Amino acid sequence: MRAAQVKAFGGPEVLTTVELPDPVPGPGEVLIEVAHADTIYVETQIRTGQARAWFPVEPPYVPGGGVSGTVTAVGAGVDAEWVGRRVTSFVDGSYAERVTAPVTAPTPVPDGLDLRTAAALVHDGVTAAGLLELTAVGPGDRVLILGASGGMGTLLIQLARARGARVVAAARGAGKSALVRDLGAHAVVDVSESDWVERAREALTADVAGAAEAADGDEAAADVVLDGVGGELGLAAFPLTATGGRFSAHGAPSGGFAAVDVAEAERRGVTLFGIGDVQFGEAEARRLTAQVLAEAAAGRLRPVIGAQFPLTEAAEAHAAIEGRELIGKVLLGM
Ligand SMILES: NC(=O)c1ccc[n+]([C@@H]2O[C@H](COP(=O)([O-])OP(=O)(O)OC[C@H]3O[C@@H](n4cnc5c(N)ncnc54)[C@H](OP(=O)(O)O)[C@@H]3O)[C@@H](O)[C@H]2O)c1
Repeated sequence: MRAAQVKAFGGPEVLTTVELPDPVPGPGEVLIEVAHADTIYVETQIRTGQARAWFPVEPPYVPGGGVSGTVTAVGAGVDAEWVGRRVTSFVDGSYAERVTAPVTAPTPVPDGLDLRTAAALVHDGVTAAGLLELTAVGPGDRVLILGASGGMGTLLIQLARARGARVVAAARGAGKSALVRDLGAHAVVDVSESDWVERAREALTADVAGAAEAADGDEAAADVVLDGVGGELGLAAFPLTATGGRFSAHGAPSGGFAAVDVAEAERRGVTLFGIGDVQFGEAEARRLTAQVLAEAAAGRLRPVIGAQFPLTEAAEAHAAIEGRELIGKVLLGM
């Protein structure tokens, strides 16, 4: 079978197509014929070698962590009923035409939902749904989403709105801002403008009676900040978190997670969440996957797929993610 392999740490060009032996499902495993592999931002950071402290993988390796596809064979001890099922699954080394996974990993894809859409939800959908549970976003909450035009941000907007929140989306540039507004954000701020923090504060407090007072007279405005960008941008958004609010620093495409002052958060009663809080166990991940797949099948959740590349162009897919011109998700098609 064909797979995309990282030969050495480096730029996108280190991703090349290789022939590998077809995987064989062992006891308790299924074999999945991959339709689409999803890509996530961190895979580009792992490829460069800059994420070695957290992801101790050494080249050569096949990147990727999620697929949609069809089960074509099962190993010993697995119910043959699995064969023919359309599924999504977390699986290491997913930039490949075929993968094996423990039978506890896949989630069936509902009838009527295409495998391309399903693939866009494998990581982003699960993390987005999990984040909103974790931060207990509810009706009337003022939610600020950083990185709103990304694969996960575009889902967070829709899911937060579905929970009845007032959503302010932060995106970069006019095109991305227009898209996140179309997805249902109540207001959009363009982070390429120097006064975006002030604009976000105004947008968060607009039409909310007493919001400024509730913020104890400081700049606080958001009940929940979901930071998918990190670095300076995330840090600049932290003061917008209302006293007693929640701040999730789960994103680091800027190069690092927002280095929020923990003592300051404690003083203001802000609950902090980080990347460790969105590492869900297998059962949790399956529950969240089923939830977002069902939402998408019902037409209530629309992943934004910015581009799809063939497996043989995995390098171009990574270059596109790093180029930051695309909106939403980048997929690989087999
Ligand atoms: N997807 C998941 O399941 C998951 C799970 C845990 C954590 N996370 C983390 O959440 C973050 C967002 O994930 P994603 O899947 O939505 O990624 P994505 O689709 O690639 O979106 C990345 C977002 O960050 C912005 N961005 C990219 N490069 C940047 C840079 N150098 N400086 C500032 N902003 C930059 C992009 O907007 P502009 O380029 O327009 O500025 C975009 O909005 C990532 O850090 C990821 O590791 C994701």
